[in-house]
Amino acid sequence: MATKEFPLVPRDVGRVETQHRRIFTKIPVPESIPILEQMRAAEPQSMGGQPPIIWDSGEGALIRDPYGNQWIDFSSGVLVTACGHSHPRIVKAIQEMAGKHLYHAYCFPTEIRAHLVAKIKSLVPEPLSKVFLLTTGSEAIECAIKLARTWGLRVGGPRKKVLVSFENAFHGRTMGAQLAGGTPTLKQWLGGQYPDFVQVPYPDGFRCPDTSFEVFAQTLAEKGIDPNCVCGVLSETYQGCNAKLMPREYAKSLRQWCNEHKAVFIFDEVQAGFGRTGTLFGFEHYGVVPDIAVFGKGISGGMPLSAVVGTEELMNQYGPGEMTSTHSANPICAAAALANIETILEEGLVDNARRLEPVLLESGQRIMNLSGGRVGRADGVGLVMALQFVEPGTTKPDPETAWNVVRMCVERGVMLFAPVGVGGSAIKINPPLVINEEQLREGLAVVEEAVRDALA
Ligand SMILES: Cc1ncc(COP(=O)(O)O)c(C=O)c1O
Repeated sequence: MATKEFPLVPRDVGRVETQHRRIFTKIPVPESIPILEQMRAAEPQSMGGQPPIIWDSGEGALIRDPYGNQWIDFSSGVLVTACGHSHPRIVKAIQEMAGKHLYHAYCFPTEIRAHLVAKIKSLVPEPLSKVFLLTTGSEAIECAIKLARTWGLRVGGPRKKVLVSFENAFHGRTMGAQLAGGTPTLKQWLGGQYPDFVQVPYPDGFRCPDTSFEVFAQTLAEKGIDPNCVCGVLSETYQGCNAKLMPREYAKSLRQWCNEHKAVFIFDEVQAGFGRTGTLFGFEHYGVVPDIAVFGKGISGGMPLSAVVGTEELMNQYGPGEMTSTHSANPICAAAALANIETILEEGLVDNARRLEPVLLESGQRIMNLSGGRVGRADGVGLVMALQFVEPGTTKPDPETAWNVVRMCVERGVMLFAPVGVGGSAIKINPPLVINEEQLREGLAVVEEAVRDALA
């Protein structure tokens, strides 16, 4: 959640030239201003908020503008380009599919769809067995919510329709996804009361210091929710805004609670899935399997594709033609996704994320230490970390400092997206999974220096 817009005023930022970073111009680049202004004139302001850099091309963990500048990419777009930018295998898959002169097939069968769903099915643990392909993460979340609601109706009747999710969660920007999310303003904009969408505290150990599972049941009781009216529980596998997994015991208790109350247990793996956390699926950290897992972002390496993967019983609730989408398994997106998944597996990218986790977290610890309490938490797992800027000794967000650090990093050749999370005060560091240790260390040194300078 960007909290403000970057001014379109070129600044002298000094020359940067290393093996991986090149900043040769003012930032924003003077020649880019008309293009940036064109976008600001033609688009809603909600599309703004990101650093004013024109993305032109990328290679692995590097991103370039058209003016000769180059950044180490700590954004992966928005945790999407798992295999890096323009991975040759993904480029080839896209080109080959485009060369077959088939770039749309609706739900008519295609070989590439067959290969992709079979591949995903072969990777997920039982009892997950059915794969439904969609286009965006939000769309897939909508589908999961709908499946849980239908399930509730079938097993418990019309009262069993409450979806429980977590405070500060993010599940996307469509209506249902926003109601399931845990950002109060996003819900207020939708007006009215939505008693079927209930949030409980996420056990992050920071904004919710009590990470015991008792808080879950207690909060439902306080909110007057009969557990038997719950059709489903939805959680990000790690909470995006703080990059924090829930305690393993909490996840196990949640699995048990859902079994006992016939509630569908849904993990939103849109960020966590396909290697980001150092395991292929984020839920492997917990030793539990959800009834539905929702994938997006890293599943396809860049082309728009998402997936809802669930048990046969849940996924077969609707008849032929009753759960479809115009762009389900678009052939080019499906070809890219298959190449992306094969690359993640064959190039050991999950292992790379696990191997580099200590480098990332040690830097987070150093940043916390040098910040005098201004970075309240630096949690992470695999190749994702969130630096939470706060007023010292509190959990009160400090978006201004977070924003300044992003600006400084971008000016010094490290690409970050604008701060996210509570009050727009968390900086996310999530490079492509192909990043090497040298690139990661170089980029982290820049972030450390930027935090030091922003706080000086
Ligand atoms: C955890 C999570 N779920 C769902 C979404 C929504 O995905 P999309 O933007 O593709 O609709 C996001 C996007 O940031 C996300 O981080």
